[in-house]
Amino acid sequence: MANILIVDDEETFARNAAKFLEKGGHSVRVALTAADGLEACAAFGPDLVVLDYRLPDMDGLMVIGRIRRLDPEVPILMITGHGSIELAVDAMKAGANDLLTKPVALGELRQRIGLLTERQRESSRLRYFEARERDAGQLESLVGDSTVMCELRERIRRIAGIEAREALPPVLIIGETGTGKELVARATHFCSERRDKPFVEVNCAALPANLLESELFGHERGAFTDARERKLGLLEAADGGSLFLDEIGEMDRGLQAKLLKVIEDGRVRRLGAVQERQVNVRIVAATNQDLEDHIRLGLFRADLYFRLRVLQINVPPLRERVGDSLQLARHFLVEFGQRYRKSGLAFTPAAEAALVSHPWPGNVRELRNLVEQAVLFVSGASIGPGDLLLPRSPEARPAELSAPGGAMSADVRGSALERVEREMLVQALAQTGGNVSRAARELGISRDTLRYRMEKYGIGAATTGH
Ligand SMILES: Nc1ncnc2c1ncn2[C@@H]1O[C@H](COP(=O)(O)OP(=O)(O)OP(=O)(O)O)[C@@H](O)[C@H]1O
Ligand SMILES: [Mg+2]
Repeated sequence: MANILIVDDEETFARNAAKFLEKGGHSVRVALTAADGLEACAAFGPDLVVLDYRLPDMDGLMVIGRIRRLDPEVPILMITGHGSIELAVDAMKAGANDLLTKPVALGELRQRIGLLTERQRESSRLRYFEARERDAGQLESLVGDSTVMCELRERIRRIAGIEAREALPPVLIIGETGTGKELVARATHFCSERRDKPFVEVNCAALPANLLESELFGHERGAFTDARERKLGLLEAADGGSLFLDEIGEMDRGLQAKLLKVIEDGRVRRLGAVQERQVNVRIVAATNQDLEDHIRLGLFRADLYFRLRVLQINVPPLRERVGDSLQLARHFLVEFGQRYRKSGLAFTPAAEAALVSHPWPGNVRELRNLVEQAVLFVSGASIGPGDLLLPRSPEARPAELSAPGGAMSADVRGSALERVEREMLVQALAQTGGNVSRAARELGISRDTLRYRMEKYGIGAATTGH
């Protein structure tokens, strides 16, 4: 039950209430003056305070204020001698959570205390979930204890620790598709002093150059035909925090020059504006492309590249993280097991062997999708190699599939899987507005593979609604 502090100078009432509440399982302390009450509050950290408004040594509102300074969260149940509305309003404004008027019925007191402590538990649960959500951007969300991943976390920690009043060096995150660059970008922000400031992300491949420019820099009213209202750019919106430019390799060269200027002097000018504004934003850029190749092809500016890569983070492909594929697979198994209410699932040794030996061209994304599918469609308590949609070489094919009698069930499973696969392709295409490259990336397969499968299942642009 709850630890309760009663602060009331009417000793008989205070002692009776204490006895009554103790019978109900609470543990109670009594203070007869405000000074003693505050001292007890500091020393004993109650779960709830029952506070008399009229105390001999201090004004009720002041006591509330002092308690709040000691503990901003503890519920305060005020007891007043007379039911004045103004007093109630003042008390609530000062930070009381509930109010009872004298004479107080003990049953009523107990009931209010029950409600308040329940509400308090609920809101601390909410805070816990918020904190967990925040943690999702932190280092712990990067699963994997391989040496390369430990080194990666250490590097993120160091880079996140770098601060500057102006011209904070940008961060460049490089890695193959599906390696976790987005998680790394979040971690660089949420591990840094900037964590309470905005983390704004924008995908440079998702918008045509002129739109991206107005997203980043904002515009004044009338800056161009469609600019009916003034709009704050993302660089300004991210002030004090970080701006994550995903797929930076896709940014138009003209915009690259403007970005470089912002990185160097921290000044942005909205489209159509005369004045520049100073911003303090950490630029975090990511790409799965070879920027040096892009430079050779004239697609990427060398000067921006050299500026970006001062703080570079290389995210290793999954095949180079010894031991991680299994650890990640088990992690995702728990995650999806909970999500789809199939907890207690496990991989068979053969499935684990298959997970370890697969080269994972689509990296963690491919692995995650695979485990999700397996969880969705497995019927027993264990996931065997046949439940994993891994491409298998004929000699590695498990005996049960080539054995007579096994072939039939494999066929049935094959067609069910095909329906699922088709559905996943359609969904991915719908979600990306029919963009084959992006859909392929989402699915963790190559664009050619996606095209081939779209053909196989007769999925055309029309199926996706575009
Ligand atoms: N180390 C990891 N631990 C847990 N989950 C991970 C890890 N790495 C990646 N993931 C998950 O894998 C998926 C793909 O990761 P992410 O989107 O960050 O890849 P990416 O490197 O940005 O790929 P792309 O270049 O295609 O955009 C996400 O669902 C992400 O949460
Ligand atoms: Mg990404």
